[in-house]
This record gives sequence, structure tokens and C-alpha cells, in this order.
Amino acid sequence: MSAQVLSIDTPAAFKAALTQCVELLRAGELVGLPTETVYGLAANALHPEAVARIFAVKGRPAHNPVIVHVAGVEMARRCVAEWTPPAEKLAAAFWPGPLTLILPRSGIIPDLITAGGQTVGVRWPSHPFIQAVIRRCDFPLAAPSANLSSQISPTTAEHVRKSLGDKIRLIIDGGPSHVGIESTVLDLTCKPARVLRPGMIHDESLVAVLGELQPAERGRRPDAGEGATPEIVRSPGLLLKHYSPQARLVIWQWQDEEDLKSQISNLKSQIHDAHILAHTRIPFHREFGRVSVMPHDPQAFARAIYAELHRSDEAGAKLIVVEALPDAGEWQAITDRLRRAAA
Ligand code: TXA
Ligand code: MG
Repeated sequence: MSAQVLSIDTPAAFKAALTQCVELLRAGELVGLPTETVYGLAANALHPEAVARIFAVKGRPAHNPVIVHVAGVEMARRCVAEWTPPAEKLAAAFWPGPLTLILPRSGIIPDLITAGGQTVGVRWPSHPFIQAVIRRCDFPLAAPSANLSSQISPTTAEHVRKSLGDKIRLIIDGGPSHVGIESTVLDLTCKPARVLRPGMIHDESLVAVLGELQPAERGRRPDAGEGATPEIVRSPGLLLKHYSPQARLVIWQWQDEEDLKSQISNLKSQIHDAHILAHTRIPFHREFGRVSVMPHDPQAFARAIYAELHRSDEAGAKLIVVEALPDAGEWQAITDRLRRAAA
């Protein structure tokens, strides 16, 4: 199989792609779709065989639940047993957008989606194409990130084609993802609510709406590995080994170029095999494999980071050195992903 990649950059192309997508999804097939966070591998969430295909194609462990994507609050209500006042407030504040709400599941949600658990993650994504697809289908879409399990999430259609192009029939090119890292996952089944996966909708924004939030377990290193019992894994996507590039990744600070080079040498790595992603102390290019000047603001950094990691891997980097990020606000979600990539 070799995936067809369709662009949606004219109204006619958008319409044609929409028709083709809906047809495949109705038939229980998978489609690679753009969302504002990262690209998703979508299937009819109410169709157990279609959802099973997602797990097979990604090589995803069955104990890792999948997020259900909806096109409005009304559809979200159908997926959950109880649509609570905090859910209502959060949806009003942040949907459509990069926030996934964990709530008790309703009877229409297949077991596979929830990994057998009693809760379901729902999200209303903001990309206009996936919204149009869900509205036309009139069923929610199960969609994990469209990458092989434990690899870096895709932020372009080309990333999806490279990792899954021989396993699915259709990928929609909706341009580079605007947010660039995966949604914030918020557990509303406990009180106060708890962030299971930080994202660009960060703690302060959530507290502004909810009034309170469980304190972040900062620096906590999830100890559950692939062999851990599913019950103790609150959000299996938070297993440490995740979002990994092929190259070794480290997060460092350095004084100057000499200091950076000596840190690389201490690792017994070659300077010319190292790719440097720096946003303040930018070394000269000369001897490093590549030097990327990263943006200063967290939104632009998040938008760029996965494409940088994909590019370094393709260029055969052995070591990726990311300059340490500030420890505040939206930066924390980016640092979370980089730590996982470094694990
Ligand atoms: O931005 C995103 O969320 C992207 C786009 C495609 O929407 N999706 C995404 O899906 O990142 P995935 O499957 O790669 O990550 C979903 C995360 C995992 O960490 C999973 O364990 C967690 O959400 N999750 C899903 N349902 C859950 C549930 N019922 N309880 C706890 N965690 C859940
Ligand atoms: Mg993922």
C-alpha cells in the first residue's frame, strides 16, 4: 500500500478530500488527518474493528487509551456518562482547541478506546478540515498521533507519509500544525482536576477557569514501563519512553562554544555528528553537524520543535543537543516532551 496525499489548499480540493475521507472513515478505514496540535491517525470511534486497526498500524500497546475527537459540545456529551460543570466551563474557554478532557465514558464508546477503563478522553480540535470531516460523518473520530508508537509525533503530512505511508491509504495535507505539540490532557474525574499531560494550555490558564488544580508532580519520573500493570498507569502515554528521535537527545546549558564542545566530547560523541538546537547561546556553525536557531517564544518553539527533531534524524545526527528552556508557563510542556525524548 502507498498512501495518497491530498492537499486541501483550494475550496475544490478541500471538498474533494472531504468526500474521500468521509467515504473511507464510513467504511471503517484509517485516514491521516491534520489537527492544530499534531497530525492524527483517525478512525470511526464507534466502530471497534476500525479502532483495532489504529492499534495494529501504530504498534500501540492495548493498554494505552485513545482520544476521541468531536465537533462540538453536543457530540462530546454523547461520549461521556456525565458532562460536568467544570467540563462545560473548560469547553467554553478552550474549545475548539488543544485540550483533552478525561470524563466517565458513555455506553457508545468501545472498550478498545478506553483500554478497558471507565473513562474517555474527548477533544474538539480546531483545524477546519477535521471539523468538517467529523460534522459530515456525524460520528466521533478516535485519533492518536499519526506516528509509530513511541516515535516523535508528526507535524506535517510528509512526517505521516514517512512513518505510516505504506500502512494507510490516505493522508490529508493541511499544512504544518499550528500548535506543534500534543494537547493538554486534563483528568476531570478527580477533584481538584489533574493534568496528566502538560500542553500549551497550561496550568495558569486552567486554574483561571477552574479555580484550582492538583499541584503538578514536577520532575516526577513515571516508573511504569511497558511491563507495568495497566491499573497503575493513569495515562499510559506518559510512560517515559516516548516521543523519541533515533538520535540520542540531551538538554544542556553551556557558557560558550568551547564549553559546549567539551560537554559533547565528554560524552565521547563527535562534534560533527551533533546537531545543536539553541535559542539564546547560539554557537557558530563551523564544526557542528547542524546548528538550528530556535525561536524565543514558546508558541513558535513548540510549532518548530518536532520538525527539527525529524530533520536531525533524517540528516543522520547521532546526538541532538537542545539548549535548556525557561522553567515557566508554556515552556514546561515543551520541556516535558524533550525530557521524554531524552529518556
Ligand atoms: O493533541 C493530541 O492530543 C493529539 C491529536 C491527534 O489530537 N493526539 C494525541 O494522541 O496525542 P495520543 O494517543 O498520541 O496521546 C493520547 C494521550 C496518551 O497519553 C493517552 O494515554 C492519554 O492521552 N489518554 C487517552 N485517553 C485517556 C484516558 N481515558 N485516561 C487517561 N489518559 C488517556
Ligand atoms: Mg502519540
